[in-house]
Amino acid sequence: MRNLIDINDLSNKDILGLIEVAEDIIKSPEAYLDVMKGRILATLFFEPSTRTRLSFEAAMLRLGGQVIGFSEAANSSVSKGETIQDTCSCVSCYADIIAMRSPVEGSQLRASEVLNIPIINAGDGGHQHPTQTLTDLLTIHRELGRLTNLKIVLVGDLKYGRTVHSLVEAMSRFEGNSFVFVSPDELKMPDYVKEHLKEGSFEETDSLEDSMAKGDVIYMTRVQRERFDDKDQYERLKDAYILDAEKMKLGKEKMIVLHPLPRVNEIAVEVDKDPRAAYFRQMKNGMYIRMALIKTMVENSWKDNAPEKNYKYSKGKCSNPKCVSNIENHKEVTTVDKGNGKYVCIYCDK
Ligand code: NCD
Repeated sequence: MRNLIDINDLSNKDILGLIEVAEDIIKSPEAYLDVMKGRILATLFFEPSTRTRLSFEAAMLRLGGQVIGFSEAANSSVSKGETIQDTCSCVSCYADIIAMRSPVEGSQLRASEVLNIPIINAGDGGHQHPTQTLTDLLTIHRELGRLTNLKIVLVGDLKYGRTVHSLVEAMSRFEGNSFVFVSPDELKMPDYVKEHLKEGSFEETDSLEDSMAKGDVIYMTRVQRERFDDKDQYERLKDAYILDAEKMKLGKEKMIVLHPLPRVNEIAVEVDKDPRAAYFRQMKNGMYIRMALIKTMVENSWKDNAPEKNYKYSKGKCSNPKCVSNIENHKEVTTVDKGNGKYVCIYCDK
């Protein structure tokens, strides 16, 4: 049994295998109509979602399976004080696979420690969002024909935007990719993501105009209002970057604009009709890649063995108040050195 907590739980071969299955589903959906017959997906969403939850549910239904779950914490016993671990052990009696979203960083990893069914991280606070990354990779592959030798310009809230953390980790593992991180100073890409990048493979700037011409992919993000402790800071930064038709003129002829959505102000509606605007196609791809993922995980039919992680482990205390280890009161946590000589919390990378 394998879980998907972090994009590094998948090898490049696994990712390409999932893309291949998704492409086949797009081509011949009728061949998949009942492959999950008799199986149940539980969607446990402790945070708002439109696309991620509905695409997971549509994915399972289109594979002939069924779905149970809840779409807000208030509808679960967590609101009575139950731990996430206990909630998940309960659900594992009823379902074959879990997709879970939570504002608590590391909660899916914590839950996986007691589960005997696979769990998928559908977003944990400002940390990671691996299935959005699979969606992004399928889209890049379909639109540009490759996952290598690309320059990806990531724009906006790179600090709290979990999708960009997982995307950079994944794309940096494919050959020849490089990155431009465009953000205000307060919303820069976290060190734990940058520390794993090859020297010279990324640059940081606060200018979208200067970066437009460089990108094969322009990845826009929303400033994550719900993660700010300082609401005035959010108000100051929320409209830092707005991609409009004028700025699109600076972009390459053959490039794509992606956005995990929802958008607030960061892409003007006039951009939607530009053929390079791929975010609505990206949204649909999210369902297909989740179909491929659910099928592979429930059947345990991976094309590759779980990637070996040559990590070193120790013990410590996590300093992040949004980490599951502090919210569910675990005094000591396992810390991990992922190869750069620094020990970080195993749950949240802080
Ligand atoms: C993203 C998320 O939830 O992190 N949305 C999504 O899953 N499609 C991005 C966001 O909320 O800004």
